[in-house]
Amino acid sequence: MARRIIIAIDGPSGSGKSTVGRRLAERLGYRYLDTGAMYRVAAVKAKELSIDIDDEAGLTRICSHMEIVFVQDGDGIKTFCNDKDVSEAIRKPEISALASQISTKKAVRDILVEMQRMMGAGGGIVAEGRDIGTVVFSGAELKFFLDSTPEERGRRRFKELVEKGMRVSLEETITEIRRRDRRDRGRKLSPLRRANDALVIDSTHMTIEEVVEKMLKEARRQISEGGACQ
Ligand code: DC
Repeated sequence: MARRIIIAIDGPSGSGKSTVGRRLAERLGYRYLDTGAMYRVAAVKAKELSIDIDDEAGLTRICSHMEIVFVQDGDGIKTFCNDKDVSEAIRKPEISALASQISTKKAVRDILVEMQRMMGAGGGIVAEGRDIGTVVFSGAELKFFLDSTPEERGRRRFKELVEKGMRVSLEETITEIRRRDRRDRGRKLSPLRRANDALVIDSTHMTIEEVVEKMLKEARRQISEGGACQ
């Protein structure tokens, strides 16, 4: 039987990690883990319970009581927190901003990273986020860093939001992407950065399918090469 590896995909917001990660997992018959969704759930909870962003004890309390479950739903994935469907709530623009802030907090990261490691135990998983290859699964057998320009990422995000019926402007969306980039790359704890052994893919001029094919080729090589050495 083929060995089941851990595949890490890191990169900035809007680089397409979720779409390609999901498709890659599907093609390999692997589980898919969207760690950004977990920080978003923490943000939804903090907002719901009016926990201040600087209240570390409050953040620890809510995070340690969150039971996050992902359920495949047709083409998409639904996110549940303690049995409540939060799939739509976590995608709201104000939650994107709050998740970015909340993800700078040690109390939150310590708990979520532990949950992620448990979810990835046993391998056979494609996990995406900002610190997957550097921290969460630093020993992952295959690591990608998916990048593209802020303008291109802004355009993609804008299209998604408009399709969902949200009223936003392209300029605002690009500005927000840049702001999140600065925060994600500049924070003290687990900043977004490429792991030394990650393969960089710049998707600015690539289609989703081209990115998936490239990753799939690398994954198959890694799975069979590793298998041959065992
Ligand atoms: O990927 P995303 O946009 O859904 O992530 C939401 C926020 O969570 C983003 O601002 C960065 C943060 N995040 C993180 O700090 N570490 C991760 N592994 C995943 C996301």
